Amino acid sequence: MSAMRVVSGIQPTGGLHLGNLLGAILRWVRMQDEAECLFFLADLHALTVEVDPAQLRDNSREMAAALIASGIDPAKSILYAQSAVPAQVELGWILQCTARMGWLERMTQFKEKSGKNKERSSVGLFTYPVLQAADVLVYRATHVPVGEDQKQHIELARDIALKFNNDFDVELFVAPEPYIGGGSAARVMSLRDGMAKMSKSDPSEMSRIDLTDSNDEIAQKIRKARTDPEPLPADPALLDGRAEAKNLVGIYAAISGETVEQVLGRFAGQGFGAFKPALAEALVALLEPLRGRLEQLRRDPGEIDRILAEGAARAQALAAPTLAAAYRAVGLAR
Ligand code: TYM
Repeated sequence: MSAMRVVSGIQPTGGLHLGNLLGAILRWVRMQDEAECLFFLADLHALTVEVDPAQLRDNSREMAAALIASGIDPAKSILYAQSAVPAQVELGWILQCTARMGWLERMTQFKEKSGKNKERSSVGLFTYPVLQAADVLVYRATHVPVGEDQKQHIELARDIALKFNNDFDVELFVAPEPYIGGGSAARVMSLRDGMAKMSKSDPSEMSRIDLTDSNDEIAQKIRKARTDPEPLPADPALLDGRAEAKNLVGIYAAISGETVEQVLGRFAGQGFGAFKPALAEALVALLEPLRGRLEQLRRDPGEIDRILAEGAARAQALAAPTLAAAYRAVGLAR
């Protein structure tokens, strides 16, 4: 059994929001002490929908700074931009020839993102999960920490790994485990609609908490968050059917490190007039120090570029042997 190797990525579109943080990034931070970790800005994935070229580089720097502010430590983890490691794309092509149309057609995120406009979506949006598979397989990752919405893509990466090994009779790829946070953090929902996930593509800023929100904005967004008029129950099962209430309690639990049951134990019988200020306070306590660090890091873009360049060089060195072995396995000299 190989040692634990963690790989995960985030698209540098918009800033970090609470869903990213609780669903993925804060777990990345914790894993740094347990495993060899590679974290990257998925800037090539960002091309699958409309991009603003003038913005992309700045967005990548900003996201790198946000990750470092959140606790990703370049001395412990390898931090880089996906586009700086061509091996991920090269393996991506080979794996496109392993993945089957039917597998990709089942991907729910493509259906959600393409909506009614499937014919006009980029081909990249459709094949995007194959590049995602290459992103992790090229490092022989054992664990991929992601939110619930990415689970299907990691399962696809497992299928691709196993089919490639089987087709070419090699033991090259490791089938990675999707590592989804327990409980409420795995899927943080919109503050305006408990049935929709919190997302940077939601046009309403009131639907999400961004890392860059001021304390007042956080308090205001929580105050205006959609809820119902009932008091909170003691039994977590009674939150079923109350999507907005369940989401807010889940966010609180994820931040305080308690179970939903423990949180309800303290707030049962109280309405949102009491719960919301406590939640806003917990959010401010979590985000204010991160925001402070982000503001500092922004003052030195050269340092961010240096960190990303060093990370890219280390990632390239780790990816090269797997890519070479994949070329050999399919019969291409390398
Ligand atoms: P992205 O950029 O949409 O999201 C980054 C991470 O945040 C998680 N996440 C959430 N978790 C809980 N609740 C939410 N509302 C929420 N919104 C986002 C995501 O699950 C993800 O872990 N395709 C990926 C990027 C990627 C990648 C990879 C990830 C490219 N290659 C290889 C892992 C491995 C994406 O678009 O994530």
